[in-house]
Amino acid sequence: MKQLIINGNKELTGEIKISGAKNSVVALIPAAILSDEEVTLYNVPNISDTNALIDIIELLNGKVDYKNETMKIDTSKIENKVVPEALSKKLRASYYFMGALLSKFKYAEIYFPGGCNIGSRPIDFHINGFKKLGAEVTIEGNKYIFKANKLKGARIYLDFASVGATINIMLAAVKAEGTTYISNAAKEPEIVNIATLLNNMGAKITGAGTSEIKIEGVKKLGKGVVDVIPDRIEAGTYTIIGALLGKKLKISGIIEDHIDALLSKLKEMGVPMEVNNGELIISKPEEYKAINVKTLVFPGFATDLGQPMSVLLTQANGMSIFEETIYENRMGHIKYLQKMGANIRVNDRTAIIVGKTSLTGEEVTATDLRAGAAMVIAGLIAKGTTIVNEIDHILRGYENIVEKLTGAGAKISIKDTE
Ligand code: EPZ
Repeated sequence: MKQLIINGNKELTGEIKISGAKNSVVALIPAAILSDEEVTLYNVPNISDTNALIDIIELLNGKVDYKNETMKIDTSKIENKVVPEALSKKLRASYYFMGALLSKFKYAEIYFPGGCNIGSRPIDFHINGFKKLGAEVTIEGNKYIFKANKLKGARIYLDFASVGATINIMLAAVKAEGTTYISNAAKEPEIVNIATLLNNMGAKITGAGTSEIKIEGVKKLGKGVVDVIPDRIEAGTYTIIGALLGKKLKISGIIEDHIDALLSKLKEMGVPMEVNNGELIISKPEEYKAINVKTLVFPGFATDLGQPMSVLLTQANGMSIFEETIYENRMGHIKYLQKMGANIRVNDRTAIIVGKTSLTGEEVTATDLRAGAAMVIAGLIAKGTTIVNEIDHILRGYENIVEKLTGAGAKISIKDTE
């Protein structure tokens, strides 16, 4: 068991460089198995989700060479095997092997995925999409079996613009006979990143990044190369930290359009910042205006930044409202913020936050990945020492978090309790 120990209230300056996006790389690695040759990914973050996916690729007899942020995946000898429950449970993104294996072998056996406990998170849109493409789906306990004589292009409408279903259907349809249209597709930048790799491998996908995606099936996919986009959620997390503790803190390697909603909310609060050529310089203001934040699909305010943002709202003068609209259970961190001194009332998916309240170091728990990020932020602004438990959640998504924060002047370390 590992803990984070944080001594709060230190000004942050210098530079924090943003890593490749977790939610892109976790789909790019499974997408690589569609190639009959070698796929190269640049800017790959070294996080535990990446390592869990390497385990699955190796189980399927693929070869992975991962060093200096570059990953080469040789899939020429890939075999179809059951992905065991212990592996698929390690992360949500194991579900991308459903679409990828079905596409490649017309057969896949895989268990229900894991991931953060932030709501019921069904996968019915993925399954319905596979069925529309011609797959037969059998469910045996937690195991899903997908079988198809052949996959045929189809018109697929998503009831909700789901990121995972959009990517999984793209993976399953890319080698189907004929053309697939996904309407009400998710528009998140990660989807564009996956389509870019697939097109580089020889796929014919247009419209990624809009709500109508067209996929013309191709027979074969070959060599492919792509840069993993910068992690907009990691960028957003450090930007929020900069708004709380920064003195001209530089966040580098960002794509401004990807965090536009956050930047516009921070401006509304009165946070001074400048963005130029992928670099953001941010400082703590004298005081913050209270605002309302409602999470939405891209380009709305990202659900993955709602919990970190709620910590900033405890420092604003007056009443702020944080409303989560994507998941049922994004409030796991609130009880710990209350324990640290925040004045927050939760009603279902809405938190009413009254500030400004000073926070005091306490022993808290990372109940999920972004709740964990919220606890780190709270610890960084609290008086005294904060201990964060169950930090494996955090290490799934933030590369070198201790080193990055320490480099900017924070007092934070990892303690092994075993
Ligand atoms: C992705 O999850 C991300 N995970 C999440 O990141 C992120 O919060 C989410 O997209 C939204 O941006 C990965 O990329 C691995 P969805 P995903 O399908 O694809 C419902 C993080 O902290 N739904 O867009 O699983 C679902 O329950 C995380 O990095 C169905 O009802 O999200 C949710 O309410 C956590 N049926 C909503 O749609 C389905 O078949 C959005 O989910 C699929 C989804």
